[in-house]
Amino acid sequence: QNDLFKKLVAHCKEYGFIFQSSEIYDGLAAVYDYGPYGVQLKNNLKDYWWRSMVQMHDNIVGIDASIFMHPKTWKASGHVDAFNDPLIDNKDSKRRFRADVLIEDYMAKIEDKIDKELAKARKRFGESFDEAMYRETNPRVAGYVEQHNAVRDRLAKAMTDGDLEGLKALIEELEIADPDTGSRNWTDVRQFNLMFSTQLGNIAGEEGKLYLRPETAQGIFVNFLNVHKTTRQKVPFGIAQIGKAFRNEIVARQFIFRMREFEQMEMQFFIKPGEQQKWYEYWKEARMKWHLALGTPADQLRFHDHDNLAHYADAAVDIQFNFPFGFKELEGIHSRTDFDLGNHQELSGKKLQYFDPATKENYVPYVVETSIGADRMFLAAMSNALQEETVVGANGKESTREVLKLHPAIAPIKCAILPLKRNDERLVNMATDIFNDLRLSFDVQYDDTGSIGKLYRRQDAIGTPFCVTVDFEALDDNTVTLRDRDTLSQERVPIGQLEQIIRERVDM
Ligand code: GAP
Repeated sequence: QNDLFKKLVAHCKEYGFIFQSSEIYDGLAAVYDYGPYGVQLKNNLKDYWWRSMVQMHDNIVGIDASIFMHPKTWKASGHVDAFNDPLIDNKDSKRRFRADVLIEDYMAKIEDKIDKELAKARKRFGESFDEAMYRETNPRVAGYVEQHNAVRDRLAKAMTDGDLEGLKALIEELEIADPDTGSRNWTDVRQFNLMFSTQLGNIAGEEGKLYLRPETAQGIFVNFLNVHKTTRQKVPFGIAQIGKAFRNEIVARQFIFRMREFEQMEMQFFIKPGEQQKWYEYWKEARMKWHLALGTPADQLRFHDHDNLAHYADAAVDIQFNFPFGFKELEGIHSRTDFDLGNHQELSGKKLQYFDPATKENYVPYVVETSIGADRMFLAAMSNALQEETVVGANGKESTREVLKLHPAIAPIKCAILPLKRNDERLVNMATDIFNDLRLSFDVQYDDTGSIGKLYRRQDAIGTPFCVTVDFEALDDNTVTLRDRDTLSQERVPIGQLEQIIRERVDM
């Protein structure tokens, strides 16, 4: 698993998908830049999300709000008071950790022990193995399960109560040590606010303090009335947005999984109070379908109900993806009630209400939101796609190929046009003509910088679903070879039909 992850990170760099930010200065932790293929893949993912939300729904519209917002926004949203992580420092190494993550890592180790025991037993008992029964009756496994659940419950309670001393006590009791140094010389646990702040130019001190938005959602809430009035949407309706968000994450690890500057794709769906359960279920299912339509295998995705609810939610579920480091949150679906609009109404003194023409009632709408990180989706798509395969060449020799089996709709380059020989003017001219023609419709690439085998490998590595090879036969009959990245099949197709054939295969 770990090797796969290392390979993925190296692949992203080698093929121009992702670079460490400010790399020539040794980089900035948890900040990344997207390279030429990376930005195309990310744009395609965002486009797929936007089309499925805005283009395909009559009752969802888009906005693009600013990153800077009035400071009262973050008071109303609860982020000033509640958007904290419990922090603990190692007094010796001065390294910072999230207290809850240290405890979760401890729990993960117990889960590993349980999994190992279960795997052993499954092997021993074969078909007749009853996992649930074994968990309860095998003394060793039952002991681990009990220990795990006790820690989980105490962690959940301490987090809900904001009990920092309870967290510290748990870390001491479990004898948790610094994972890097093994030392247990800890400070107390204290709250650390995750918002980045900066200063307005013309106002000194606290009053000029601004935050970089930690979620895009608030730009939607404060524009609720503007959008409702200008689009005349009736409840239920949604507002969608894609944009940057910033969090001063303490635990910055796992590549682009947890970044300090990242991009969110969020949609707030405004509904009648009392209908939240129905819409929560609706969006859970709709969002899962979106992931499946992109070709993510069903067994790599699962729902995970939250143990600890965020300060704004009355119900929340994650769609988790099986990243190379295990099942982790990819997207959240949250029932936010009227928490945000209600608080903004109170703090701004402006009525943020909806007049229901059917019942002649005014109410503050409830909200169900869907929220997914574009970068995390990128990581999921890449993890899913990267494969190493053994292939047998024309000479009968085996070789390995690294191939990115991205869904054609999100692949950075849809088709590469390759002349069989770069020093044959007729082949080069024909390939260039095809390239200039297809570039009007798709992201395509012309390449004549190596042998055909090498060019194919390069296109495989960046996930190009189709390659067109222009050979001598083409000069006679105006047909070319269309090679499929996944099946490696090669078919002869008339040049005049290329655009239509590719379009049929890359459209969602
Ligand atoms: N508006 C709700 C909200 O922001 P969240 O669960 O904190 O909820 C939503 O974040 C999504 O944003 C997550 O599921 C994840 O995909 C992405 N996300 C959150 N923090 C991130 C980070 N530090 N780096 C990358 N993506 C992040």
